[in-house]
Amino acid sequence: MAEDLLIIQGTKEAQYQQLIPQIKALLEGEPDLVANLSNISAALKEQFGWLWTGFYLVKPSSAKAFSEKSEELVLGPFQGPVACTRIRKGKGVCGTSWIEARTLIVPDVEQFPGHIACSSLSKSEIVVPIIRNEKVVGVLDVDSSDLNAFDETDQQYLEEIIALIEF
Ligand code: SME
Repeated sequence: MAEDLLIIQGTKEAQYQQLIPQIKALLEGEPDLVANLSNISAALKEQFGWLWTGFYLVKPSSAKAFSEKSEELVLGPFQGPVACTRIRKGKGVCGTSWIEARTLIVPDVEQFPGHIACSSLSKSEIVVPIIRNEKVVGVLDVDSSDLNAFDETDQQYLEEIIALIEF
């Protein structure tokens, strides 16, 4: 397909509804995970202009200590300011979404105990876990510089987008 993204105006629903077929086209026939996560990050960033859009993937821990610490989230493809590279299970919004295996919407990051501030500009956040064979294999993390930027509409469509990824 052409690599130009068509930027959509209108309601948030309309934006997602026209963005999703474009994301499908970008992923079509491409088995490479890094390529696909990179284009999803870029498409979301281009369409919505959020501060940070990207992925953390569950990978073996760099610490050689205890078995329960044997995995952690490691920074994957993203768009936006530089970010922390490793997040332990249960830590921050991403680590909590991982351990609870559910989407978390955080209207005000300062009110989320243990929130990891990769950027002081981030005010609200949504984290969607990627679950395959009943195991969380990564998360999509989106940060906004506005308070209260995300709601159930974002959850619904971002979960739909995440379901398109082949792991
Ligand atoms: N705020 C996240 C960390 C990742 S950055 O926002 C990119 C968290 O609390 O898990």
